[in-house]
Amino acid sequence: MKKITIAIDGFSSTGKSTLAKQLAQKLQYVYVDSGAMYRAVALYVLEHKLIAVKVLDKATLIDHLPRINLAFRYNESLKASEIYLNGVNVNTAIRSMEVSNTVSTVATVPEVRQQLVALQQHMGKAKGIVMDGRDIGSVVFPDAELKLFMTASADKRAQRRFEELKRSGIEVTYEAVLDNITSRDHLDSTRKDSPLFKVNDAIEIDNSNMSLDEQFEKVLALVNSKLQSITN
Ligand code: DC
Repeated sequence: MKKITIAIDGFSSTGKSTLAKQLAQKLQYVYVDSGAMYRAVALYVLEHKLIAVKVLDKATLIDHLPRINLAFRYNESLKASEIYLNGVNVNTAIRSMEVSNTVSTVATVPEVRQQLVALQQHMGKAKGIVMDGRDIGSVVFPDAELKLFMTASADKRAQRRFEELKRSGIEVTYEAVLDNITSRDHLDSTRKDSPLFKVNDAIEIDNSNMSLDEQFEKVLALVNSKLQSITN
């Protein structure tokens, strides 16, 4: 069976990665969380103190870029890929609120984007990939056979994210989560380089009132009809 590229874009906490993982597992495709890559660079920025009171030292970050090595390694027991920053597993560290509050600023730097986009395109060369992010259908894989654009109300997203963080033992208030989500929405969709927007050929999925199963069935039907149309 022919393999396709599936690009999933959308606002923060719309469940892009959950859907992408489900699809990759079902189709036996590679899953890449491009947001994890931006988060790992943001973690590097924090660890090297390249940001102070929300002001990023862009020049030094650009200087350091050749020293930032990112890789995904498959964890057999978790049955999932984990991200490594310069050889260190940072899969949990990149989910902290501190990283969440820094990442959108880091993601505005064109030199950072160029380096990560090149890596993402390399990973997707052989197709059979599901990648989620903000610019996957517009910049990384403009020729992707299937493009999805996920949305949900800010309130629903904040509630889901708050529950998720609570479950993983991270202490945070609902207001802080909502605030982070709305400010990331703004930064992600208004930045100059590769802003988040729905490309014309993307299919919008608003999952405010959809269960995970309903969403998966709906998207799987889209994938199957695409696969059929290209094999015929
Ligand atoms: O998907 P996420 O919330 O983990 O992504 C974290 C941040 O990274 C998000 O606020 C914007 C940025 N990002 C981006 O600019 N481009 C991507 N392809 C993926 C993420």
